[in-house]
Formats: sequence, structure tokens, C-alpha cells
Amino acid sequence: MHFSDLGLPEPIVQALTKSGYESPTDVQAEAIPAALLGKDLLVSAQTGSGKTAAFLLPALTKMGERSKGSGNGPRVLVLTPTRELASQVEKNAQVYGEHLRWLRTVTLVGGASFGFQTRALSRPVDIIVATPGRLMDHMRSGRVDFSRLEMLILDEADRMLDMGFIEDIETIVAATPADRQTLLFSATLDGTVGRMAEKMTRSPQRIEIARKEDGGSIEEHLLYADDNAHKARLLDAILKESDFEQAVVFSATKIGSEEIADKLSDMGYSAACLHGDMPQNWRNRTLNDLRRGRIKILVATDVAARGIDVPAIGLVVNYDLPKQAEDYVHRIGRTGRAGRSGVAITIAESREFHRVRRIEQYIKRSLTEAVIPGLEPTRRPPKGRPAGARNNGPRRGSGGGYGDRKPGSGGGYAGRSSSGPRRSGSGGGSSYSGSRAPRAE
Ligand SMILES: Nc1ncnc2c1ncn2[C@@H]1O[C@H](COP(=O)(O)OP(=O)(O)OP(=O)(O)O)[C@@H](O)[C@H]1O
Ligand SMILES: [Mg+2]
Repeated sequence: MHFSDLGLPEPIVQALTKSGYESPTDVQAEAIPAALLGKDLLVSAQTGSGKTAAFLLPALTKMGERSKGSGNGPRVLVLTPTRELASQVEKNAQVYGEHLRWLRTVTLVGGASFGFQTRALSRPVDIIVATPGRLMDHMRSGRVDFSRLEMLILDEADRMLDMGFIEDIETIVAATPADRQTLLFSATLDGTVGRMAEKMTRSPQRIEIARKEDGGSIEEHLLYADDNAHKARLLDAILKESDFEQAVVFSATKIGSEEIADKLSDMGYSAACLHGDMPQNWRNRTLNDLRRGRIKILVATDVAARGIDVPAIGLVVNYDLPKQAEDYVHRIGRTGRAGRSGVAITIAESREFHRVRRIEQYIKRSLTEAVIPGLEPTRRPPKGRPAGARNNGPRRGSGGGYGDRKPGSGGGYAGRSSSGPRRSGSGGGSSYSGSRAPRAE
């Protein structure tokens, strides 16, 4: 299938070709034609599967036609949970809309100048990408005119609800025209999100693309640690033995992310931290430096867990376990994007085994436990599989990695899970090199 088969106009197809997109991903193939027909959509699909284009391409297609309304207000509004994600989505819109004449996009996010945003709103705008809080500030001072809004898009809707934005979202939705088209993207479409979705959409089409069970491109491992000092030694070993272009290390706390980033910098890595208490210009600079490859290791809180797309990230380390089981999926999804492969290593203290079980229950599979020779934990978590978790064995193809350590191979993790076949190490050398099964998209 090709993008032009989906009913997208030529200037957009050209921009996609220039971006190196050859064919639509599953979620794009389903969502784009439905959205072009004007349907409301509720969509969930795997991390890194191209959901941004799935909502932006139909939105940009609308921009090719003249607005029926008058005024300066936006024709499309995209809401995202974080500032970083908002600016990433705006950048994507500019890339996909490169050949559209007069396309004007504006991001409205906290931590940036009000004056600049206010001036941007005084001229006609096509697409606003906003975080709910700052958009509400502009709405309260009467600066946003939704009278010609055609499309409302919520990205990472479940996350916005978790962050307590439900009332803001309800207020924003109520301020938009009732005949708008609504596209809601969320990791889950049940529970609170489902109820909210029901209120804000009209006979929506549900699109749920299941995670591909086989050939997944993220190789996952679990390492148990005795205590914090042990965790630090494990991280050190992981980074030394890994062959990655860029990595993200997730920390549970802001202060923790700073401490780890400082330590890594002292060790000579180009590392930086990212968390919600940092000034916004600093946050932006950090992410830009990561995108440009100037930072090799980003140490972040969950502010970076959703949506952030940096294709060169080949390794994710959960230095601390995520607070909520579902965040595990989003964190590791920062690697292995768009058909690439990646490695995700989770460090847990032995006493946290019940939290590991909760993650396993959520993802419905067991995590392969591994050890780094010389850094084995002294305490062992109780054995046992989570109810409902199927043991698929390691999700990987062949070669490389964590199999039996070859003499003199300089590292490698000995798998000690009872799950799946024990891998025969064929990689040699660095632990993570070697071929992996490509994701079947
Ligand atoms: N059809 C395509 N062909 C090739 N690459 C694509 C295609 N669509 C999107 N991509 C690329 O895939 C990567 C992931 O896209 P995107 O960020 O939209 O994923 P996502 O589904 O929103 O992930 P997440 O759940 O983490 O937010 C991006 O680098 C994007 O440029
Ligand atoms: Mg996304």
C-alpha cells in the first residue's frame, strides 16, 4: 500500500516520501481513511507505530481546503500532556505540511513567554498544539477563538487524565463547536478515558492495533539488585557493555535523575537530566542536544516517557521501576521505534519483586531475568509467574546479547530465566550487538 492510496493529497505524499516514509503503518492505514471521511476516532496502538502522522495527515489534508468559518482562530487543536511532546508534534506538522502554502502552526505550552504566544494568536492560525494548562490560561483571557475549529485531537489522552487535566479538557471541549471532528489517541480506551471519550465523540470508530507478539523489536531484560549501590554498579556495567548510539535512563525522582546524570558526566559520558522542575529553556535545550546527538545519555523522569521520538535511542534503562505498570510500556517504547530494534533493561531491587509482577501482569508476559557476571544479587526474589502472564520466552530473534558468556568476550548477561530457550551466545564482543529480529510492521 502507498500513502496516495489512502486519499492523501499530492503535496503531503511528497513530504512523506522526502521523510523516507515508504508505506503507511498499520495504524495509519486504518485511521487515515476513516478520519478523511470525517469520522470520530478512538485509537490505541503500539509505541513508535506512527500515531502522530495518523492524526496529523488527515488534519493537514483539511488545511488544503479553505476554511468555511471566519476569524483568526485555529482550525485544528491538538492537546498533548507535555511541553516537549507539543513541540515535537508541531515540528512533525511542519515536516508533513512542508508543501502546503500558508500553513501556520502555534504551540501554546507553559514555561514559554506569554507575550510571544499572545502575538502569535493575534494572526490567523491553522493548527494549535497545546498543553491543557497553558491553553486554559489563554482561553481565560479571551484570546482563543474556537469558532472555526474543525478538528480536535487528543494525543496520550490517558496520560492527560492521569495528570489531573480532566476538568481543563472538559472546559476546552465545551468551548469548541459541537460539529467538530474528534480524534482521541490513548494507550487505553477503557475506564475513565472511555467514559470521557463517550462524552466528547459521536459514534466513533474504534481502532485498536494489537502489539505484535512475535518479532517484537524491543529486547527486554530484568536485573535484580540488592540496594542502591548495587544498582549504580549495574548501570555502570550496562553502559560499558552496551553498544548503543543513545540511551535513556529513567529515574523515579527529579533529584535522582540529577544525581545519576552528574555521576555519569563525572565518568566521562555526555549525559544530561530532564525533569519537570527544570526551566523550560533548559528542558528544550537538553532535548535538542539529544536529538542532535550531542547528548549520549538522557537521564529522565517520566516526563520523557510518553511520545518522545528520538530514533537513535537504542537502549532504555529503568534505573528505578515506574510507579505505574503501564508506564513501563511507554518508557521502553522510547527505543525500537518505527521498525528499529532496541534493548530495554529494567533494574529492580529484590524486595520490589511484587512491583515487577504487576508490570508482568500488565504486559501479559514475563520479563527475562538476567545477571551480569560478578554483579549477581545476593538475595533472590521468590519464584513464580504472575497470574495471566504467558511466558513467551525472550522476545528476540537471533544472535548477540545475553547468552552464555563467551570466554574473553568482554561481558554478556547470563540469562537465568526459566522462560524460553536459553540463548546460545553468538554475538561475542559487546553484549548488545548482533542481529535481532526486525519488527514485523
Ligand atoms: N509510515 C512510516 N514509515 C516510516 N517511518 C514512520 C512512518 N510513520 C511514522 N514514522 C516514524 O516513526 C517514528 C515514530 O512515530 P510516532 O512518534 O508518531 O509514534 P507513536 O505511535 O506516536 O509512538 P508513541 O506511542 O511513543 O507516542 C517517528 O520517527 C516517525 O518519523
Ligand atoms: Mg505519539
